[in-house]
Amino acid sequence: MRIVFATSEVSPIAKTGGLGDVCGSLPKELRKLGHDVVVFMPFYRQARQYFEREGVAVESAHPPVPIVWANWAAQAGFHRTLLPGSDVPLILVENDYFFDREHIYSTHAGADDFLLRYAFFCRAVVLGCQLLGIEPDILHAHDWHAALLPVYLHSGLRGSETFRATRSVFTIHNLNYQGAAGPDAFALTGLHSRYWAGDAVEHFGTVNPMKGGIIFADQVTTVSPNYAREIQTPVHGAGLDGVLRAVSYKFSGVLNGIDSDEWDPSSDPHLEANFEAGKLHGKTVSKRMLAKEARLKYKAKTPLIGVVSRLVDQKGFQLLLPILSKLLKAGAQAVVLGSGENYYEEGFAQIAAQNPESCSVWLGFDNELAHRIYAGCDLLLMPSMYEPCGLNQMYALRYGTLPVVRMTGGLADTVVPYDGTNREIANGFGFVDPASEDLYFATWAGMLNYKDSRLWKTLQTNGMQHDFSWSRSARQYEATYERALKG
Ligand code: ADP
Ligand code: GLC
Repeated sequence: MRIVFATSEVSPIAKTGGLGDVCGSLPKELRKLGHDVVVFMPFYRQARQYFEREGVAVESAHPPVPIVWANWAAQAGFHRTLLPGSDVPLILVENDYFFDREHIYSTHAGADDFLLRYAFFCRAVVLGCQLLGIEPDILHAHDWHAALLPVYLHSGLRGSETFRATRSVFTIHNLNYQGAAGPDAFALTGLHSRYWAGDAVEHFGTVNPMKGGIIFADQVTTVSPNYAREIQTPVHGAGLDGVLRAVSYKFSGVLNGIDSDEWDPSSDPHLEANFEAGKLHGKTVSKRMLAKEARLKYKAKTPLIGVVSRLVDQKGFQLLLPILSKLLKAGAQAVVLGSGENYYEEGFAQIAAQNPESCSVWLGFDNELAHRIYAGCDLLLMPSMYEPCGLNQMYALRYGTLPVVRMTGGLADTVVPYDGTNREIANGFGFVDPASEDLYFATWAGMLNYKDSRLWKTLQTNGMQHDFSWSRSARQYEATYERALKG
């Protein structure tokens, strides 16, 4: 099959979260299955910096051409390189006005143009396929940024030579980011007025790309089976549960995998010492090095708790901030790496300032440090309010770090909490109600069981030996593509 990925993020080139990880690794796995995959992403400033840093050549695939849609015209240039570590072609869509910005998702001062930026990106993917002679069987659009593509496909593209046999798949990585904008923004999509309807992109008076993607894609997926069930209910459906129930015949959950080459403790170049299940000395070294890096005293018997996350409401740190000092007093050390909303950044910084001997905080984004945290900690906290899949808990499990999670979304599909009786299968700790005391007790249970080194090793081994690679899920995507082609 010829598959085109359209995504806003690709790791390690430009990423803010798991969307980048998935779109940087799933294409490689599909390639291994023999498919012909091409990935399109915006040529962000961060991408240029990445290629410069790595000394990777990016060649022009097509000189800038104007894209004219609605009452807009903008130039799109196309550059070509390979997805790092693979032979998968990566096409970078260039337009410096839209994509040469300080942050991936920040806008020029005063200009709130997110819908315009990504409508442009979708138009450029269409044009890029036409100019570069790419005739996709499957157009796989990811998250709201690419959600207009299935709508464009529906709105007449199938009449074109390039897309005459194309079917679309839309994957929801996070239903809460829908790209919704006021009614005036409809003109920016360039869609015919018949798409301004409740069974198209109109949603309670706003333009909603996510809704359009769900309605018009031939198949819709999300990133874990449990989240697929949850978002069909009003509590988790972010206003689109009814739409999802209506399309349940073409909607399924496919659990994310992880890039098991990048996230492999036995060969990870970011670690001082490598390790694997059954040979955990390198993990002890990693803990010692991490403590040093965090300016904490290394204490072999004290559980070291880690957090690596975007600091936003989704991640549930409103539950952690009120009890973190209490956990430190109960005998834990903690390291936090994250960036996001001021409330959380300041909250963590304040706790670190008050507990310099037991807590250290890095505010920012640092992939290499993230690797060292997964490797060096004993417990990783993810008290998410909701979590479509979550990759951090899988990285932690692979690195022998036991996750403490709220049992929601993909966390419930990947973490088996220890309950005192299930040591053969358990790999972490969990709680259900979004309450600080429940998070406290789950973490405390982790700290307590840490003292039992035989039990701990068993739980670590359960996590480290589990296969979180893409192989199974890539087959499920293949089956989804086949269903789309039959539909
Ligand atoms: P989400 O996509 O909702 O942020 P995931 O668990 O799916 O959550 O993926 C998060 C990804 O982003 C992981 O690869 C994680 O290591 C990375 N990450 C998050 N915050 C940071 C940070 N501050 N520094 C480095 N990596 C981070
Ligand atoms: C989103 C979700 C996260 C998921 C990631 C990759 O950012 O918040 O749970 O793992 O996408 O699918």
